[in-house]
Amino acid sequence: MKNPEEHSPVRRGWSIVSTRPATDRNWYSADMSKRRPLPVSVFQIPFVVRLPEHEPPFVWPELFGRAGRVEIEIGMGKGLFLAGAAAARPESNFLGVERAEKYFHRAVERFLEAPRPNARVLRADAFDLLTRWVTAGSVDDVHVYFPDPWPKSRHAKRRLLQPELFAGIARALRPGGRFWLGSDVAPYFAQAVKETLALGEFDAEDWPDEAPDRILTSYARKYLVEGRRLHYARFVRRDASGGRKA
Ligand SMILES: C[S@@+](CC[C@H](N)C(=O)[O-])C[C@H]1O[C@@H](n2cnc3c(N)ncnc32)[C@H](O)[C@@H]1O
Repeated sequence: MKNPEEHSPVRRGWSIVSTRPATDRNWYSADMSKRRPLPVSVFQIPFVVRLPEHEPPFVWPELFGRAGRVEIEIGMGKGLFLAGAAAARPESNFLGVERAEKYFHRAVERFLEAPRPNARVLRADAFDLLTRWVTAGSVDDVHVYFPDPWPKSRHAKRRLLQPELFAGIARALRPGGRFWLGSDVAPYFAQAVKETLALGEFDAEDWPDEAPDRILTSYARKYLVEGRRLHYARFVRRDASGGRKA
């Protein structure tokens, strides 16, 4: 681990200056949130992963302080799923990644109130995480739930569900690893399923609604109260021969 002081941002009024690439310095501003301040600096919270203190790629046992399965949630929002899944599967190590400061901040508050030894949170962009920070084939599960559809074509770049993401997930997962997907927007979901299968790297598997591992996210709860239909799919990563592993 590098000395964090080496990459400390320099505060100038309300802006922050850092020599690191933008994706690496994003999380710093969580300390400057105009929302309710955290009771402790993000620099001192052990479950917050601070990119400038690491060199890519992550070495999972070092990051989590122990060996074990690795599950990543992309776009964790306020961290409700991550907290529930970390409690339900103590044998797994969970990394939640969130780009938006507002939601990252809420997730940090959640884990400060109820720490989970097997959960870490990271403020970063999922595409950067998957391409630069994750060793190919090193992850057991990737979860993506209820990303915004950004229906206008001029906003298409902001969509999380796109072929580049599915390729990044396929690269990250070990053979037999799983990609878990949920969405409330039928056409966006259908296209994501189509594009995921088109890679030729995944098989779809049954994931019944009543399955005990269907852990709800904040948006899932909200949409269920509103009576919206939720769509879920789960995919298993093929091995190099095109087959499946357990
Ligand atoms: C609609 S919210 C859903 C949050 C949570 N998954 C849930 O179901 O309650 C989608 C989240 O994905 C995050 N997100 C979108 N694109 C992202 C990206 N490229 N990297 C990381 N997070 C992203 C957004 O900031 C937002 O918090």
